[in-house]
Amino acid sequence: MSVSVLVGVQWGDEGKGKIIDVLTQNAEMVVRYQGGNNAGHTVEVGPEKFVLHIVPSGILRKGTACVIGNGVVVDPAELKLEMEKLAERGIDISCVELSARAHLIMPWHKLLDAFKEKKADPGKKIGTTMRGIGPAYTSKMSRTGIRALEMLDDARFEAHFRDEVKAYNEMYVPQGMEALDADAELAKLKPAIELLKPYIKDSIVTVNKAIAEKKEILLEGAQGMLLDIDHGTYPFVTSSNTTSGGACTGAGIAPRNVDTVWGVLKAYTTRVGEGPFPTELKNEEGDALRNKGGEFGATTGRPRRCGWLDAVAARHSCMINGVDYLAITKLDVLDDLDTVKICTAYKIDGEIYTDFPADTAALDRIEPIYESHPGWKQATNTATCWDELPENAKKYLERVCELVNAKAGIISVGPKRAQTFKR
Ligand code: GDP
Ligand code: IMO
Ligand code: MG
Repeated sequence: MSVSVLVGVQWGDEGKGKIIDVLTQNAEMVVRYQGGNNAGHTVEVGPEKFVLHIVPSGILRKGTACVIGNGVVVDPAELKLEMEKLAERGIDISCVELSARAHLIMPWHKLLDAFKEKKADPGKKIGTTMRGIGPAYTSKMSRTGIRALEMLDDARFEAHFRDEVKAYNEMYVPQGMEALDADAELAKLKPAIELLKPYIKDSIVTVNKAIAEKKEILLEGAQGMLLDIDHGTYPFVTSSNTTSGGACTGAGIAPRNVDTVWGVLKAYTTRVGEGPFPTELKNEEGDALRNKGGEFGATTGRPRRCGWLDAVAARHSCMINGVDYLAITKLDVLDDLDTVKICTAYKIDGEIYTDFPADTAALDRIEPIYESHPGWKQATNTATCWDELPENAKKYLERVCELVNAKAGIISVGPKRAQTFKR
């Protein structure tokens, strides 16, 4: 019995949802600890495909407690919709719990997200998911945010909501933003608040009780390490700590309770939105990865930028997260290639770097140094164990582990549960 954190070690969309679902076979509780409905975690079960945005990816395993932790930002209407859609598909949602301490994404947060993106000069746009994530975390940090527990008291919620609408109208309408009508917005929110009330609990108590009872718990990260507000490619990042460190604050547990850190690593690299991406392939090789890998955003549908595996960035990520085991996904996407490349170092202004630079501007000037590996030209999507993989695929994976300084624990060769095996 143990507590494991699972994080993405690249720019998100590594296949976290699938791996959480696989690991939940043995888990009793899954806790989301940061982000919001900017996440899109895909889980395929038999012929059915589910994309989860706020509800933890353990929901598809009956009986697993699914906690939306205090570190998550929650859009009440979107959570209602997601829960209703799951229930319509026969999924038991009674095991969902929403932390009383989670902050809410409110209408003005979404308007501000869109406004800031629209107004930003070229080169300064983040390419956000437009879900209001950054402005919601801004309110949290400026100590004006509305927390889920306030939804339990209609009068308290309404008073705080009206104050915030007034502050927004006074501050932003003169800057050209649309005015909000508190009555109309409150009326729109009412059904979501009523639906969510019974699910709001003190999740800190729930999670720590489960730890004391030695239950198997998984903490589900959203986004990826390179989108972390402190450690990612700032400012082209999201507004939360996506790393394993963030799991403790976002779930309300002590660091000493975490036993294992899983890092999910895609066998190549993708990124959605703006920002530096040293190994990006802006050519037909990138298009081939996108098409074979189905690399289109699970939340916004945007095409994902694709490129070779960046071992410099991944090594930095494994170090900061303290990754014990990697779950390496989408190996099958590389099956047809003659040559597979790994970036092992960066050349910046004539100098060689093997550490990830702190200055994002330097990343734009990188010349990646690649190591080429012969492809395996053989389907891997039916492999059920390590020994069934082609020799060149094994060599590629072993080299990746060596370069990023972490052990492979799971290999994934397709989107289905069965297309997964332990190393
Ligand atoms: P997440 O955000 O990290 O959960 O990842 P997404 O769900 O956004 O994107 C991963 C995509 O890859 C989804 O469509 C998954 O169904 C799919 N996927 C996951 N693992 C594999 C794999 O090993 N091979 C292939 N071909 N697809 C995979
Ligand atoms: P999952 O959990 C990939 C990216 C956005 C943008 C930046 C900031 O599915 O891996 P935000 O809306 O968070 O303010 O946008 O972060 N981004 C993601 N990219 N996967 C995600 O989640 C992402 N969530 C946010 O594209 O570049
Ligand atoms: Mg995703």
